[in-house]
Amino acid sequence: MEPGQITQNYYDYLKQIHHFLLPRTYVEIGYRKGESLCLASPVTLTLGIDPNPLVQFPANSRIKTYTMTSDDFFRDCDLRRELGGGDLDLAFIDGMHLFEFVLRDFINLERYATRQTVILLHDCLPLDDITSRRERTTNVWTGDVWKILHCFLKYRPDLTIAVLEDAHPSGLALVSGLDPENTVLRDREQEILDGYLPLGYSYHVSNLQSIHSLAGDVFDAVRRHRFAA
Ligand SMILES: C[S@@+](CC[C@H](N)C(=O)[O-])C[C@H]1O[C@@H](n2cnc3c(N)ncnc32)[C@H](O)[C@@H]1O
Repeated sequence: MEPGQITQNYYDYLKQIHHFLLPRTYVEIGYRKGESLCLASPVTLTLGIDPNPLVQFPANSRIKTYTMTSDDFFRDCDLRRELGGGDLDLAFIDGMHLFEFVLRDFINLERYATRQTVILLHDCLPLDDITSRRERTTNVWTGDVWKILHCFLKYRPDLTIAVLEDAHPSGLALVSGLDPENTVLRDREQEILDGYLPLGYSYHVSNLQSIHSLAGDVFDAVRRHRFAA
């Protein structure tokens, strides 16, 4: 992002993405107070997964919630069944901000993806060294979620990725061109973790150009997705 460039809160982008894509189904991993979860349209079947939510939705709400970790959800539940047999159209990964969790969330969601599915990733652009470490020592904490984009560039060049760099405060990525038959991330998960877990912020800075190459605006991102689908 250029110095002085105007930013937009990621909630505004989420709202626009729901508006443009009109997903029939939406799954959010990590919904805390429900601020992002509630941006889904009333006609979208909406699922929220969070082990420690700070909000409760009434049982008759259009929003179905699961008070459990995403790992437990994918172990114990069949997402397709929870979606009433429908396809997964849109998902947002914003749960545990550690690379291995985000990687697993992505792998688990992609198993249910179609060519129409878009997966959104929050916090994929680190702010600085301290807030992007694995150990949380600050209030604002993106953790090492940022490694996922570097990982995709190396292991999944087939994905269509657009990063909204001006999505305040720490970026929002739209990933499409998903393929449930692609097992690279699953098969090489340990190798990927061994390679990326030890890396620090300086790795991101040294490889910034490749991440910048993924930059797009929201219209462009939706267009790229429609083209890929
Ligand atoms: C940054 S907050 C989510 C904010 C929300 N998406 C928003 O934009 O308003 C992260 C949430 O992830 C939840 N979380 C932590 N570990 C998780 C896990 N393993 N699976 C799912 N959610 C998790 C936390 O309880 C917390 O509520």
